[in-house]
Amino acid sequence: MMFKDRIFNFSAGPSMLPLSVLETAAAEMTNYHGSGMSVMEMSHRSKTYQAIFDQTKADFRRIFHVPDTHEILFMQGGATFQFAAVPLNLMGENGKADYAVTGNFSEIAAKEAKKYGDVAIACSSADRNHTYIPSQDQLTVRPDASYFHYCANNTIYGTEWHYVPDTGSVPLVCDMSSNFLSKPVDVSRYGVIYGGVQKNLAPAGMAIAIVRKDLAGKQLPITPKIMNYQIAIEKDSMDNTPPCYTIYMLGLVLKWLDEQGGVEGMEKIKSRKAAILYDVLDSSELFRPIADKEARSDMNVTFRTGDEEKDAAFIKAATDAGFVNLKGHRKAGGMRASIYNAMPMEGVEKLADFMRAYEKNN
Ligand SMILES: Cc1ncc(COP(=O)(O)O)c(C=O)c1O
Repeated sequence: MMFKDRIFNFSAGPSMLPLSVLETAAAEMTNYHGSGMSVMEMSHRSKTYQAIFDQTKADFRRIFHVPDTHEILFMQGGATFQFAAVPLNLMGENGKADYAVTGNFSEIAAKEAKKYGDVAIACSSADRNHTYIPSQDQLTVRPDASYFHYCANNTIYGTEWHYVPDTGSVPLVCDMSSNFLSKPVDVSRYGVIYGGVQKNLAPAGMAIAIVRKDLAGKQLPITPKIMNYQIAIEKDSMDNTPPCYTIYMLGLVLKWLDEQGGVEGMEKIKSRKAAILYDVLDSSELFRPIADKEARSDMNVTFRTGDEEKDAAFIKAATDAGFVNLKGHRKAGGMRASIYNAMPMEGVEKLADFMRAYEKNN
């Protein structure tokens, strides 16, 4: 029954969820564990829901190895909400923050932060349309900045940071929206890690913010209550109604992630999946990878033929064959195959076969 009526969806997000997760959610949709109601219909203050919430949070902490120094917050508003929450919560100290601009979303994050203080651009890859990641010696970090912000994986351009920037005592803040839980991360090195969940973890509607507890409580006085990390910590993400169903779905995805060997298992799988597609691109005369080799993303594989009509013809043929959402973002052009955690190996292998056959026949 696997994949009988499912197609391979290479969307950049929202994107595929594991089929077994969708099947469990479907089976529990109208009557969760004998409660006689859907998780969607439950009070977030009920015992049954609290158990789902607590288990999900505990599983996230265990799987992503989040130390006790950090709190895990479930907040509505996606990653864009965090673009504002981060400066509002962290800039209180001295009003300065440094931003690495390596793509669309880090640029938006920097613009948002500028509303609240003195933002310096620590580096930018705009000179080559974000096809590379600046090296450590290209970063300018102000030692008195409240934090340094970067985006670990650039969804649109298909680049990924393969090192953790060294910023001395300046806290690191990282947007991990598009590579969240695809590999182990030393969370203790970060002040804040955040990400929207709709690519690797759950349906849309939420961001997870992992906040070093000693950084909370220094927010600017204008910080809206809904964005205040300190209040979210004190109220365990339930100062108001949380995104209940998204958290439940996250819980199911985390159980699935356990079955894959956690983030350690996922790292092996995603490296293998990415290598399959990059191998096709490296040996192709039709397709060319867009990102520099050293900066390639294992989540978003971007490529082009060099001719927009040929790109369009390939995208149409691929769509007809059941490989959907391969059109690249207009800012990068060409094609993009987003191969997040839930994209099965089979989907990647079949796309690779399709690309080779397409090249042969065209
Ligand atoms: C890296 C990155 N950051 C931020 C965002 C914005 O996320 P949201 O739509 O959850 O606000 C996205 C969305 O695609 C993204 O890829």
